[in-house]
Amino acid sequence: KARTVLLATEKAFAAGAVGKIESVVKEANYTLKKLENYKSKDDLLAAVADVDAMIIRSDIVDQAVLDKADKLKIVVRAGAGYDNIDLKACEAKSITAMNTPGQNANAVAELVFGMMIVSARNNFDGTSGFELVNREIAFYGFGAVARAVHKLAVGFGMKSFAYDPYIPADKIKEMGAEPVSSVAGLFDHQYVSLHVPLTDETKASINKELLMKMPKGGSLINTARTEVVHEADMIEVLKTRTDFCYLCDVAPKDIEPYKAAVGDKYGKRLIFTKKKMGAQTAEANDNAGVAAANQIVGFFEKGETRFSLKA
Ligand code: 3PG
Repeated sequence: KARTVLLATEKAFAAGAVGKIESVVKEANYTLKKLENYKSKDDLLAAVADVDAMIIRSDIVDQAVLDKADKLKIVVRAGAGYDNIDLKACEAKSITAMNTPGQNANAVAELVFGMMIVSARNNFDGTSGFELVNREIAFYGFGAVARAVHKLAVGFGMKSFAYDPYIPADKIKEMGAEPVSSVAGLFDHQYVSLHVPLTDETKASINKELLMKMPKGGSLINTARTEVVHEADMIEVLKTRTDFCYLCDVAPKDIEPYKAAVGDKYGKRLIFTKKKMGAQTAEANDNAGVAAANQIVGFFEKGETRFSLKA
């Protein structure tokens, strides 16, 4: 059966990845419809009308989008986090939703180290910084991304700690990190790296109490979601603790109050990427994009539902 797959990416994939996605889709005798770098939601609402499947990134798939998507059977988030998809609304329309876990992991891990080094070397301003060797990093969440960061941390000679409510302590130990028994316990270490999804439970959960507890030079690394951090608390901590650093790939909408809090230390104590950059590599785009296309073909041709998400 001829199917149409919509690639709807407000932040476009690398051209090479799009070519590879197109090959997978063509091989199945489907058509790929592209909506890349779109500027308004109306463009998305118009594009979904006649498609059977969708590949998205952080693009919002809510009730309004689903209302227009009369033929849609499956939406695949090329990436890990799926807080941008209204799963309940999908379920109500019997639309399958999936993600592609792990495909971005190495790209995010390398960015974590990029930000740590820029910060440790004072944004390359010529003054003496410090080395990462022998320092401690604690992971909140120990899924694919955290494990990829841990692997690099081992190479840097760092010591890893981890807490994950869904992974038993002995498994964490087996993977080479020291298990920590609570979220609060993570904040006894110099670096804390967030690798949890945005949920009702994690929203604004990283607060002043936790951040003030961090040892000297305490640094929070956020490559998860902005909303996991309590914004007003973060700004206050940046103001009151002049040793504290926030390295964040998920720039909040308004960065000015954060910048005001650190003064001229933007780029060292405070790092924000221009757009979310963790998954912006040729390799991650290839991995996640091709996985998404394959999952769509597998779903239609073989009824495969591995990686489907529950509301
Ligand atoms: C993810 O959850 O996979 C990352 O946040 C990547 O998001 P992006 O595809 O919008 O860059």
